[in-house]
Amino acid sequence: MQHIDLPLLPPCDVRPVRILFVCLGNICRSPAAEGVLRAIVQQHGTEAQWEIDSAGTGDWHIGDLPDRRMRLHARNRGIELNHRCRQVRESDFDHFDLIIPMDHSNMRNLHNMAPTTEAAGKILPMAAFLDSSARYDHIPDPYYEGSEGFELVLDLLDDAVGNLYRTVTARRQD
Ligand code: 4NP
Repeated sequence: MQHIDLPLLPPCDVRPVRILFVCLGNICRSPAAEGVLRAIVQQHGTEAQWEIDSAGTGDWHIGDLPDRRMRLHARNRGIELNHRCRQVRESDFDHFDLIIPMDHSNMRNLHNMAPTTEAAGKILPMAAFLDSSARYDHIPDPYYEGSEGFELVLDLLDDAVGNLYRTVTARRQD
């Protein structure tokens, strides 16, 4: 993993850290990232220290559960995805500490929406948390892919979200 410049995060005794994952539709990659982080947090018993959500830049699926293929592949790994799709809104830039887009296009859209430079500083790509050996610089959109696309998303998220958990936890204990 490359060195990551995190924005200022709240100390653990002040309030939970607030993380928002973002993709295009908010029915495949970002709800999966949310589910993977929730599972890691639950394994560590650190639920009180994290607030986790996801959202999409697009509005096609608002109110929907995640894509059934994404839910199926996640369930096979013991992760239930119950998020209801919502679109990114400007107040997210105030509320969240880290806003994590899955690909370059999501990242460009978020930068265009960010109301201030401080808000833009909260945007960090998911791929920044991948191990340096990873062959990907983004989390590929699985929507028009077969099962391999969904498995790849979960493999990449296992790696990146695990590193995110460790990086944020270490920073907050500094
Ligand atoms: P996601 O995948 O961005 O990972 O949720 C997609 C879901 C839906 C669409 C595109 C990508 N769509 O065009 O409806």
